Amino acid sequence: MIHLQNIAKSFVQWSETIDLYSDLSLEIAAWEFVMITWQSGSGKTTLFNIIAWLQTADTGEVIVHDTALHTLWDDERTIWRASNIWFVFQKFHLVSQLTVRENLELPGDLSGLTKRYTVQEMLDMVGISSKIDIYPDQLSGGEQQRVAIARAFLYETPLLLADEPTGNLDLWNTQNIMQLIKDLQKQTWVTIVMITHEQEILTRADRVITMESLIG
Ligand SMILES: Nc1ncnc2c1ncn2[C@@H]1O[C@H](COP(=O)(O)OP(=O)(O)OP(=O)(O)O)[C@@H](O)[C@H]1O
Ligand SMILES: [Mg+2]
Repeated sequence: MIHLQNIAKSFVQWSETIDLYSDLSLEIAAWEFVMITWQSGSGKTTLFNIIAWLQTADTGEVIVHDTALHTLWDDERTIWRASNIWFVFQKFHLVSQLTVRENLELPGDLSGLTKRYTVQEMLDMVGISSKIDIYPDQLSGGEQQRVAIARAFLYETPLLLADEPTGNLDLWNTQNIMQLIKDLQKQTWVTIVMITHEQEILTRADRVITMESLIG
C-alpha cells in the first residue's frame, strides 16, 4: 500500500544543514493500522508530509496504492490525493463558516467522492448527531475532533493519514476517539498511518514503528 524507498531529507537552518533522514525505507500493507512514534523534533510530521508528497524528499521514491507520487505533476497529485488519502490534523481543519453537516458534505460536493454512509449515520457513529446543524466553534475540542474523524471516514478513500489526532484532547476523549477510530477501521478497511507521541495509545495499533528504527 505504502512503499517508501531510500528517502533522504535535510533542512538548512541558517548555515547549518540538518540531515533528518539519509536512507529511510518503509513498507505499510493495505488495511494495516500503523502508529509512528518518537520524540519531538525526530521528523514525524515531515515523514507524514512526505508519504503524501505534501513535502518533497531530496531523494528516494514514494509509491502509494501503486502510484509513484514523486513522478506526478502537482495538479495530478492534488487530484490523486483527493480520492485516495484523507488527512486528520491536530488542529481539526474544520471550516468555521459551515455547520457540522456542511463540513461533512463539502468534500463530496467539491470532488464527487462517494460516501460510505449518510451524514446522519456517520454522525450517529461518532455520537454527535444532535450537533448536526451547529457551527464548529460551538463545539468542544473533543467534539470538533469527532467531526474531523467522521469526515475522514465518511468518504471512500483507502488511506487515512493522521498527525497527532488526539494531541489536543484529554485522556478521556483520547481513549474514546481511539476506540472510535479502531471500530471505524474494522468496518471500513481503511489503511491508517497515525503519528503520535502518546505512549498510552500505542496498544491500539496493529504495528508501532519508532522513528529511531527508521532512521537507524
Ligand atoms: N521547513 C523546515 N525548515 C527547516 N527545518 C525544518 C522544517 N520543517 C521541519 N524542520 C526541522 O526538522 C525537524 C523535524 O521536524 P518535524 O516537524 O518533522 O518533527 P516532529 O517529530 O513532528 O516533532 P513534534 O513531535 O514536535 O511534532 C525539526 O528539528 C525541525 O526544526
Ligand atoms: Mg509533528
